[in-house]
Amino acid sequence: MEKRTPLIAGNWKMHKTCAEAVDAAKTLVHLVSAVTERDIMIAPVFTALYPVSAILDGTQIHLGAQNIHWEDEGAFTGEVSGKMLISAGCRYVIIGHSERRQFFHESDQWVNLKIRAAVKSNLIPVMCIGETETEYEQKNTLSVLDKQIKKGLEGSFSDSLANLVIAYEPVWAIGTGKTAKSAQAQEVHHYIRSLIEKLFGNVLAKSIRIIYGGSVKPENISELMNQPDIDGVLVGGASLIPETFSRIVLYQ
Ligand code: 13P
Repeated sequence: MEKRTPLIAGNWKMHKTCAEAVDAAKTLVHLVSAVTERDIMIAPVFTALYPVSAILDGTQIHLGAQNIHWEDEGAFTGEVSGKMLISAGCRYVIIGHSERRQFFHESDQWVNLKIRAAVKSNLIPVMCIGETETEYEQKNTLSVLDKQIKKGLEGSFSDSLANLVIAYEPVWAIGTGKTAKSAQAQEVHHYIRSLIEKLFGNVLAKSIRIIYGGSVKPENISELMNQPDIDGVLVGGASLIPETFSRIVLYQ
């Protein structure tokens, strides 16, 4: 089987001032300095990106943003472009998080535009997909993911998606303490990989990283990472405390 480097990512959501973010980044750099063969990413709020990039410079921790606009610049009050994220030191960008879909009405079409913008800017897109609790209860998980993937990646070619990361985050597991059972998550990840194979071919399906998010903690990371199709995690709450996040990064 193709070896995929695990990606352990922290989504700090709307938490931490610049000073708090810099402090947390400094502590994290120190705690994970011995890690090899694992990609680590943290995504602070926009205002903290540039100061945090100075702390991460030359370390193995990459910087990510939590959103992107698809234009390079223009009259789009409140938005930030890929070119600007690169200039702030970003390598990754989270796109289509369920909180953006739910609270800011982001559609699959917007996700599509944002993924294209990220690829064009040389940022690694982390495309978030996932079903709500009702969709889960009605056993619609796979059809929801199918639509999010097909629409989100519509018109793309496999070579433009070579770096794409897909984050499967069941909405009912985010911030709730409920995690999908690792076997259940594996089944979904396997489905996602076969869909990618059907849409974009075997090469991308083998190399693409499909990561899991939703109440990931030091206590459940190893079991999740033991699943063949889980290539990393996107961590919310537990990424805010560097000591806790470093235990996730350092899973055995
Ligand atoms: P929690 O880890 O707090 O459940 O959040 C998951 C998430 O939304 C990461 O993007």
